[in-house]
Amino acid sequence: MRCTLISLSLLSGTLAARPFLDEPDTGFDMFFSNLATGQLAPLDQLVGLPDFEAAAKRYLPIANYTYYRNGAAGEWSFRNNLEVFYRYPLRPRTMVDTSNVQSTLPTTILGYNFSAPFFITSAARAGLGNPAAERGLVEAAAAENILYVPSLYATLSIPEIASYKAPSQVTFQQAYLDPSNDTATKLVFDQAKAAGSKAIVFTVDAPAEGNRQRADRYDASEAVLPFTAITWDYYDHLKTLTDLPIILKGIQTVEEAQAAVAHGVPAVYLSNHGGRQVDGSRSPLEVAIEIRAQAPEVFTQTEVYADGGVRYGGDVVKLLALGVRAVGIGRPFMYANVYGTEGVTRAVQLLKREVALDAANAGVADLKNIDPSYVIWKQSCALD
Ligand SMILES: Cc1cc2nc3c(=O)[nH]c(=O)nc-3n(C[C@H](O)[C@H](O)[C@H](O)COP(=O)(O)O)c2cc1C
Repeated sequence: MRCTLISLSLLSGTLAARPFLDEPDTGFDMFFSNLATGQLAPLDQLVGLPDFEAAAKRYLPIANYTYYRNGAAGEWSFRNNLEVFYRYPLRPRTMVDTSNVQSTLPTTILGYNFSAPFFITSAARAGLGNPAAERGLVEAAAAENILYVPSLYATLSIPEIASYKAPSQVTFQQAYLDPSNDTATKLVFDQAKAAGSKAIVFTVDAPAEGNRQRADRYDASEAVLPFTAITWDYYDHLKTLTDLPIILKGIQTVEEAQAAVAHGVPAVYLSNHGGRQVDGSRSPLEVAIEIRAQAPEVFTQTEVYADGGVRYGGDVVKLLALGVRAVGIGRPFMYANVYGTEGVTRAVQLLKREVALDAANAGVADLKNIDPSYVIWKQSCALD
């Protein structure tokens, strides 16, 4: 305990002295110095997920960019989601044959086969980035065989998105639900099922509208949610309204992960909504560490997914090491969707390559057998 406190206080001093870099400097500005505002950087010259944000920021109207970029209040949680990965370094191994690591990327999510342990998570209003809206996201997910979870607040309707699906493509449907209106809830469930969705992803971390000051400046806030009463009793009731599995998205403590297991959830999805709901909420990486420390059995009792701030292959590797089965990515794919299907496809391909490269360089032979000892998750204390 003592060494943890010392290391955290040193760390906060270091962080206080250093300004937050909205976009890491990997040379984008220098390389694209001739790019005028409103011009789109050539897709084949983008080399990683952060480049898609840099490109979209220069291309999109400011209000549209702000809708994607914004976080709650002073955006501490937004920044922390990005920066937290560097507070929990990798412990790379050498003398390991990692030559086949690429073949270990494919995984199952809720029993369905996908080519990578990451997915395109729910983000509303793709139409703000591209007139074809969600089409680019669903088509790229099909092309690359990764999971896509459309938002209930998508620009396109559930049937419209389904019309762009490939014949055997598996998607899950995200939902915000109103506990006082079962008729509306049933409609969403039935539409999702008719569209071929294999699961409902019920978002429970947004029982009220987020306090979003950056977005309010541009009138770019989310659709207004009422204050809602989401409880375990309501979750149990929901299971009587559909035979689709209902995953809970937005779990943020070990106790709630344990309660979710007790309520028979098919999967627990750790998320703080990309820092858009309550500022001060922890990154899902920190929540995964809490579960690993206090109730590691959760990772075997149910599937655990996580999202928030994932931008590099190494971020994915760290979450997998802690026991997360699949990692969601929100903003980067919305920015990639400015280029449509081709852009999202390229972003997925770049991340697949990075996950394999970073795993290999960390000495991981098989991503399915990675374990927590690859991450220093107990701060400066030994891995005892
Ligand atoms: C523009 C935007 C819209 C979002 N809309 C939804 C939504 O409709 N439903 C939901 O459950 N989460 C929504 N989220 C949260 C994402 O599902 C996800 O938790 C978050 O984006 C992950 O963080 P990342 O953007 O750093 O990857 C949204 C996020 C963004 C950035």
